[in-house]
Amino acid sequence: MAEEAKESAGALATQGHAGDEAPAGTAVISSDAVQNPGLPPHRERVTDLDEKKSKSAERVVYTLFYLSIVGSLGAVLAYMFFPIETGDLMAIRLHTMFVGVGMTLALLAIGIGAVHWGKALMADHESIDERHPVPSDTPTREAAVEVFEVADKESGFTRRTLVRNSLIGALIAFPLPGITLLRGLAPQDQDPVTLLKHTMWDTGIRLARDTGGHGVGGAIRAADVTIGSVFHVVPENLDQATHVLDEKAKAIVLLMRLDPSELKEPEGRKDWSYDGIVAYSKVCTHVGCPVALYEQHTHHLLCPCHQSQFDVTDQAKVIFGPAKRPLPQLPITVDDEGYLIAQSDFTEPVGPSFWERLK
Ligand code: FES
Repeated sequence: MAEEAKESAGALATQGHAGDEAPAGTAVISSDAVQNPGLPPHRERVTDLDEKKSKSAERVVYTLFYLSIVGSLGAVLAYMFFPIETGDLMAIRLHTMFVGVGMTLALLAIGIGAVHWGKALMADHESIDERHPVPSDTPTREAAVEVFEVADKESGFTRRTLVRNSLIGALIAFPLPGITLLRGLAPQDQDPVTLLKHTMWDTGIRLARDTGGHGVGGAIRAADVTIGSVFHVVPENLDQATHVLDEKAKAIVLLMRLDPSELKEPEGRKDWSYDGIVAYSKVCTHVGCPVALYEQHTHHLLCPCHQSQFDVTDQAKVIFGPAKRPLPQLPITVDDEGYLIAQSDFTEPVGPSFWERLK
């Protein structure tokens, strides 16, 4: 019986045509299965056979790497000599075009050079890499070192010094345009510390409602601010600024009214509030997010970015989170008509403490 089953299985081993029935669990090898063709015959490259061709390929490779350096430096020069002029569309086009062309050339030439090096000059034979158990033992590690040495020898990384050095140069030069572009994030013609230290607040400027975007709402009377309420406030003359959003980002303020007996005001700052109404910068002193959440019962302001909390009753000091200094307070009072006005600008820079350290 066992013999019969064996024979049957043997017979089925070469079947696989439609209509053939095989018992469940029996492996069937199709008689027309495609055989493993193996590797195609190795063909020597022209650079393997002809030393002149090899030299010429080497020249192409290092020329491409040098071209990459030229592209990187070109992008830096384009950044310097084609600056962006505000309002000049042509200047913006030339700037982005030349910087872009330089960076494209830099990256493309490194890529093409590396591919050409690999295809034309590095060793071109097929090899089989056996898998080994993990972790590696000492002989394996020694073998790895040997592989590196063979790779180094075959790629010519050490021997072809011009190719190697030009590649190193290209890789060092390539990040330069990116670093240069960072300069564009800083103000071009003014000291950034001075720029951030001064806002549009000044003596007598009325506090007005922030209506979002470029909008400025009506001026706020002290009588409008009830205990527990909070106002998002901008200078009344904000819409006269050249760069409204830039100015707003620095000058925006939160206005709250507390019971005056709850305020802990040091000597010298007692007149910075008006009848329990206090105004603090809305720009978080950690990294500048808007501190937009006010908890009426605890009188805490919360920054949603990294959860810094500020105590409004105690000069907006930090009570939790990564911020390192209180929110700057805007000294306020009222004018003859009962509108809230600023007594002066902020007395310290608003926003992240980084700027204060540069004072
Ligand atoms: S920006 Fe406010 S806590 Fe980080």
